[in-house]
Amino acid sequence: MNIAVIGTGYVGLVTGVSLAEIGHHVICIDMDDEKVMVMSKGESPIYEPNLEELMKKNIDENRLMFTTSHHSGIKNAEVIYIAVGTPQQSDGTADLRFIDKAALDIAHSLTSNAIIVTKSTVPVGTNDRIKEIMHDHSSSEIDVHIVSNPEFLREGSAVYDTFNGDRIVIGADHQEAGEIVESINLPFGIPIYRTDIKSAEMIKYASNAFLATKISFINEISNICEKVGANIQDVAAGMGKDHRIGNEFLNAGIGYGGSCFSKDTNALVQIAGNNRHDFTLLKSVIEVNNAQQMKLVEKAKDVMGQLRNKKIALLGLAFKPNTNDMREAASIPIAQTLIKEGAEVYAYDPVAIAHARSFLPEEVVFCETIEDTISNADAAFIITEWEEVKSLDLATYERLMNVPLVFDGRNCYSLEKASEYELTYISIGRPMVSHSL
Ligand code: UGA
Repeated sequence: MNIAVIGTGYVGLVTGVSLAEIGHHVICIDMDDEKVMVMSKGESPIYEPNLEELMKKNIDENRLMFTTSHHSGIKNAEVIYIAVGTPQQSDGTADLRFIDKAALDIAHSLTSNAIIVTKSTVPVGTNDRIKEIMHDHSSSEIDVHIVSNPEFLREGSAVYDTFNGDRIVIGADHQEAGEIVESINLPFGIPIYRTDIKSAEMIKYASNAFLATKISFINEISNICEKVGANIQDVAAGMGKDHRIGNEFLNAGIGYGGSCFSKDTNALVQIAGNNRHDFTLLKSVIEVNNAQQMKLVEKAKDVMGQLRNKKIALLGLAFKPNTNDMREAASIPIAQTLIKEGAEVYAYDPVAIAHARSFLPEEVVFCETIEDTISNADAAFIITEWEEVKSLDLATYERLMNVPLVFDGRNCYSLEKASEYELTYISIGRPMVSHSL
């Protein structure tokens, strides 16, 4: 099948490369000249395990190309995927400008019948809007059908997820178009779930909102655990043994970050509001998450009092491990508050430092190793559970810090382990391990 993919962000690039890997001829379109030049050489503009290997392989085998020209990319495509961004606007709604532009570009470039597949996360009803744009702007001799095919991949394991997902959702109101998109996806060997377009659009939002709800729920339980002296890890493990609850997404910590959960929960609250439904549960999920991101700062103030002139080390800056994505990362409000409180902030991340510079306050000092970051520090905050951070010997904190005081926002160490060292270890939803401060 000849496929064009518009947009080469996380979703578009991974989708294009994966479709090429299962045998389709794919041309990825992006308006950024420089990015297209880099990608044409097989270099990935994003940090994503295994992506570059697959890019190089499929470019070499002539199944994957990149272009800035919508016209040449689209004109021979039988199927066109829209995978552009739908950023959050100040009122929480999704900005559909890039979707509209992609639809117009398709309408102006198509020369024969085609199927448009929407990968971008779009509010319910957006595919109808794309249909209207096609109707109003493309040649009346051309038949275009729209199919919704939301993505469920996680950053940092996007390639793995694409080949090992739990389901592929295909929402189509035209039977044959749905079947064609189903046949494109068959080689992935993942169960396919067919539905109508609006339900497919809603499955995406509801899935992300439910996962965010699970995280905020377990974080609230962790807050109560701290008050009553229970251990959240034992509680979550005990809950997760009930298969109706499931043991995933029950890791308490300093909240969810990343562009997706934040953007999609806000958008769903707006979608509900626009349809005269007050989604109070999801509003609380968002509120809980915002408060949770600040937990380490609160704990530090409780233990240390004033933070002025205290050297604080931040370990891990990206919103989660295995990505350099800084969007909605907990490190941002944490660094901003610490700087406001007069602390000296030293920060480290294995891959996100270049990105982090534009997200964190300019006062933050970036270091090249964990050791440099924690040397002479008065406190260390574990923000992202990178393998390198998790596997650091606790003796290193004891040896290098001015005061061996570790605030772990991701519960990386067992309490038993922490108690073997001469340090004070404060985590989330678990009793503090204290060595006289
Ligand atoms: C999320 C969804 O998991 C994907 O299914 C979806 O396709 C994607 O959004 C999207 O809409 O594009 P992603 O944001 O990449 O994927 O990352 P997750 O692995 O889901 O983690 C999100 C945040 O939740 C991270 O900050 C992580 O640290 C946090 N989290 C996750 C917890 O705090 N506790 C948990 O138990 C799990």
